[in-house]
Amino acid sequence: MIIARRADDARAVSRRWRAAGEKIGFVPTMGALHAGHRALLARARRECDRLVASIFVNPLQFGPREDFTRYPRPIRRDMAMLAAEGADLLYRPRAETLYPEQFETVISVLRSSRPLEGASRPGHFDGVTTVVAKLLGAVEPDLLYLGQKDAQQAIVIVRMVRDLDLGVRVVVCPTVRESDGLALSSRNGYLTPRQRAWAPRLYRALKAVAGALRSGEIESASDSEALLRTLLDSGPGKLDYAAVRDARTLAAPGPGGPWLLAVAYRLGSTRLIDNVAVRPAAKGRGGLGRKTR
Ligand code: PAJ
Repeated sequence: MIIARRADDARAVSRRWRAAGEKIGFVPTMGALHAGHRALLARARRECDRLVASIFVNPLQFGPREDFTRYPRPIRRDMAMLAAEGADLLYRPRAETLYPEQFETVISVLRSSRPLEGASRPGHFDGVTTVVAKLLGAVEPDLLYLGQKDAQQAIVIVRMVRDLDLGVRVVVCPTVRESDGLALSSRNGYLTPRQRAWAPRLYRALKAVAGALRSGEIESASDSEALLRTLLDSGPGKLDYAAVRDARTLAAPGPGGPWLLAVAYRLGSTRLIDNVAVRPAAKGRGGLGRKTR
């Protein structure tokens, strides 16, 4: 595995591969790699000739009171995992090099970055899109692999790639979960045993509401949001948001879906997010599952 710490070095390697006709897959990460990251790496490995990963804990996407300094950085373990997954190149820039003092550019995706995470974490997506644009500029991949776990992030990045003609194909991979349903996250390690025991309820609530929408038991986005709130409000932490949006654009959800059910929940000092996509039953037909004559 080649390790590059500068954009020019990463680009030189990837251009050599491209010139030889090889297809390059890219998985950007902040490290603290788990089976969710591994699923992205494995898929990129299968679908491409070259696998490139990046590790960079991006200060630009953390708010002033967020966990930037305590974010886990097990770099040796991460590098071993990347090598085991067959990564050909690891791009691991230094913050001083990526954001020198004279740096003054920000990329903002104006609409889809506003609600949900954007409302709770002002500036977060500007940090994400700016760093992902820089990483893409260094790696110049053919395919970019992202996780559905961060559904809004994927939507915002797809929008940026289209709007700026970045010419990379975005592949969104399903959320990898623990056996009890908790979505894998580098932040799960912050949870106390009691919080960890409660955390799978987020997915359970999302699944319950998705099931009720599929069967036609509930029909509207507002009823879905209300039900999510009822299911989660009595928990030990604080519900940040429970929202139903169009799964492709995050606009207000239209009839027929697909809809994104998304929640963010604070458990002590840890903030967890999760989501499921669902196609609601067509109105008046008593659910897609039931045959109508
Ligand atoms: P990070 O949180 O390290 O996630 C890297 C990628 O792994 C993202 O695309 C994320 O959606 C995906 N991922 C995380 N948990 C997952 C899970 N349980 N199942 C499937 N995929 C999962 O997301 C970031 O880093 C950063 O914002 C980044 C895009 C690297 C920009 O800094």
